[in-house]
Amino acid sequence: MTNAMYATLGFSVAAAAGAWAWRHWLPRSFWYAVGFPLKAARVYLTWRRVAYGCTLTRKRRAWRLSLEAVPGLRTASAVIHERRRVRRVDIERAPRLGLLRPTGLGWRVRVRLHDGQIPEDYVKVCDRLAHAWRVYAVRVVDSAPGSVTLLATMSDPLIGVDVSPETGELLTVRPGRLENGRDWVIDFRTVPHWLNAGATQSGKSNLANAIIKGLAPQPVAIVGFDLKGGVEFTPYAPRLSALATTRTECVRLLDDLVGVLTDRMRICREAGARNVWRLLEQVRPVPIVVLVDEVAELFLMADKSEKDEIAKTATALLRVAQLGRAFAVYLIVCGQRIGSDLGPGVTALRSQLSGRICHRVNDPETANMTLGDMDPDALDAARAIAAETPGVAIIAGQDGTWHRARSVYVSEEEAEAAARQHAALTPAWADLVAVDTVPLKAA
Ligand SMILES: Nc1ncnc2c1ncn2[C@@H]1O[C@H](COP(=O)(O)OP(=O)(O)O)[C@@H](O)[C@H]1O
Ligand SMILES: [Mg+2]
Repeated sequence: MTNAMYATLGFSVAAAAGAWAWRHWLPRSFWYAVGFPLKAARVYLTWRRVAYGCTLTRKRRAWRLSLEAVPGLRTASAVIHERRRVRRVDIERAPRLGLLRPTGLGWRVRVRLHDGQIPEDYVKVCDRLAHAWRVYAVRVVDSAPGSVTLLATMSDPLIGVDVSPETGELLTVRPGRLENGRDWVIDFRTVPHWLNAGATQSGKSNLANAIIKGLAPQPVAIVGFDLKGGVEFTPYAPRLSALATTRTECVRLLDDLVGVLTDRMRICREAGARNVWRLLEQVRPVPIVVLVDEVAELFLMADKSEKDEIAKTATALLRVAQLGRAFAVYLIVCGQRIGSDLGPGVTALRSQLSGRICHRVNDPETANMTLGDMDPDALDAARAIAAETPGVAIIAGQDGTWHRARSVYVSEEEAEAAARQHAALTPAWADLVAVDTVPLKAA
């Protein structure tokens, strides 16, 4: 007897240790083999109750067979009369839950909407669902007519981001990962200009590094504006077609850019093309990605004498933004804040930057300013970004959707190495500017 007991005990201890070791050393396979099935069983078994608690159920009238009147119980009589009767009753019906499909960090599931429900109803109760399911977060990641797809994650998917910024597609980079587990992809041909805002140490430069690393192997020209003395972008000079580090250089470079745009406009007009992408590939000009670090420096006035230069800079930058989309010049403007207090023209520039990236910011107004009149939830999420997680940002595209995302860590050395490795792809600025004969400006 004792032997059997010892054996059982030993076996249980060994099994527990084995499970612990499995979970510890091979968390992925443990999750798929053990963790997920247990979670899934729990989700299905509790779905009625959970849906009711989250006010996702609907009352329906249904016919039910009921046990009527069991009087014998109260009177302790030996004879129990059972009368079966079919009755109409109100029942709470949960929305139909589809098949739970495991992902590395959690699961995905489609839910059939009740009549009268919209995806918004589910967005509102995501937090409640997360608590009920004992997971880190639940998000609505997709919706089709009549259904939504929920994604539950067991832990923050933005903790360890390991993607490579290179996508192999022209003007497309993958700077990090979205909270829904998908890649964060920036496609300049879809959203041409980006505002990259955040406090110091929030991860702006890291994102710029990731973008440079992603663009370096592509046949594009990269141009830098770095008025903080060039400390940020000088290391990437081998892959930059031009770099402006002083105000005079800025004005000249912007002039050049406006000239390039005017040229491209003319080429397109002559070819009867609406934009450069309609031109034949042989004559299509090289796309140019313009990186501006710390935009406030461009507008900062040390003394009155700079006033004209600043006004010129503002006008030229705005011009580049306005024409860039059609003529393949794309802007990424980084800054701690970009508000009207910087000077005239800034608000107009901001409205041209349709892609928004809001890293951790110091005050709610900056988040407001960066994300515009987005969903209040997006603003809350932006304010909640912790200092311990640099690189986390709220990103918003043109379509009104927003995501929490994190850039992949790209050290300066890594970006520099990429710049050096692909230095041969760097078009010379003189070649880009001297497209044709037409004098760009008089005087
Ligand atoms: N996505 C990220 N993952 C991990 N660390 C990051 C990430 N982004 C930035 N960091 C770290 O945070 C620090 C500040 O980032 P940085 O890009 O220089 O901020 P900013 O340019 O906004 O001042 C850097 O030391 C960098 O190593
Ligand atoms: Mg920086």
